[in-house]
Amino acid sequence: MNAVTRISDDDRYARCVQISKRVCWDIDNDVIRGRRFDVAQKFLPDGLALADVFTTLSADEKRFVSQIQGRTYANVFGLVERFINAKVLELSHEHWFGDQVALEALVRFSDEELKHQALFRRIDAMIGEVLPGGYSFDVDPNAVAHAVLGKSTWAVLALTLDIELFSQFHYRQSIDPDTGLSELFRDVFLYHWKEESQHAAIDELEWVRHDADLTGEQRDWAVDDFIELVAAIDGILQDQAGADAGYFAGTCGRAVDEAEACAIEDAFLKAYRWQYIHSGAQHPHFGRVLSSLITENQGLRIQAALAALQ
Ligand SMILES: [Fe+2]
Ligand SMILES: [Fe+2]
Repeated sequence: MNAVTRISDDDRYARCVQISKRVCWDIDNDVIRGRRFDVAQKFLPDGLALADVFTTLSADEKRFVSQIQGRTYANVFGLVERFINAKVLELSHEHWFGDQVALEALVRFSDEELKHQALFRRIDAMIGEVLPGGYSFDVDPNAVAHAVLGKSTWAVLALTLDIELFSQFHYRQSIDPDTGLSELFRDVFLYHWKEESQHAAIDELEWVRHDADLTGEQRDWAVDDFIELVAAIDGILQDQAGADAGYFAGTCGRAVDEAEACAIEDAFLKAYRWQYIHSGAQHPHFGRVLSSLITENQGLRIQAALAALQ
């Protein structure tokens, strides 16, 4: 980029504030609008739920799987946004007596993540009203946030950019012409994306800014931390895939033998790894920013760790 086209970091924070003010939405008035979920509709699009991977299930059963995954989607976002918000508030400290526009961008980011967590709690409860009992998401967001914030800021920002970018990919999936997709769930993707776009821009600014202060050795440790964080997320996804497969088998209305139960659990895990790890890690922009910060060897370590989660 030359001097004419280059947008300064100050301008980027200002642009995030400006767009954040323009797209700001309300949970009830804009997203939910008095609607309820309808179990005749899919909640997650096939491309996200990986409907094709559930080879033993009927079309109706695949729709039920998309609804279970929709509920887990709300819970996973509620979970990760707890630590994202805590990290954003921590980073805001570095702007208290500096660029007040950057500070405003982070304060708005935090405010939006609090609202998103409230939205996802509502979505979880609303889906609970229409699906059979027995679903569980047994992960404490505060305990996870404590563990995540024990890792280096570099690693947490890497994971956060990955998450904010995959939420944009999920929105794009939701606007594909997927027949039978819930309009209410489609709006959850739409409104979440409207604010996540600014978050991804801020993550990148903060990550690159923080990276500039690290020594090579500190960055090398941070790469290990990032790999450990991804593995920890994968552990949560493995547990939830087991819980959701068990819930499906117990409530789908027919007998599921052991071999099929294993296949269904594997399919849930494949879908969750796609949604929460690979769709972000494969995002071209994530790859560009990451590779601009790390060595070739560090990149190979990360690739090997991700490849193990297939
Ligand atoms: Fe969010
Ligand atoms: Fe966000």
